[in-house]
Amino acid sequence: MLELAESVGLKPAHACKIGVCQSCSASLVQGDVFYEHSLTHSPAEQQVLLCSAKPDSDELTIELTAC
Ligand code: FES
Repeated sequence: MLELAESVGLKPAHACKIGVCQSCSASLVQGDVFYEHSLTHSPAEQQVLLCSAKPDSDELTIELTAC
């Protein structure tokens, strides 16, 4: 989802891109996500890691904070 956000001109914060640093954490407003790989540190409740999460519902709403 990080690449998708960047492809439409958004600039979400990120660093490691492998689910470790948590800098790409964003708020999950609606829908579900899953992670193909186990994470070293799980994101907080209702947060998703943009670099590692994959959509797992037909509709997905994520709130990005401005940097
Ligand atoms: S960029 Fe580090 S966890 Fe996503």
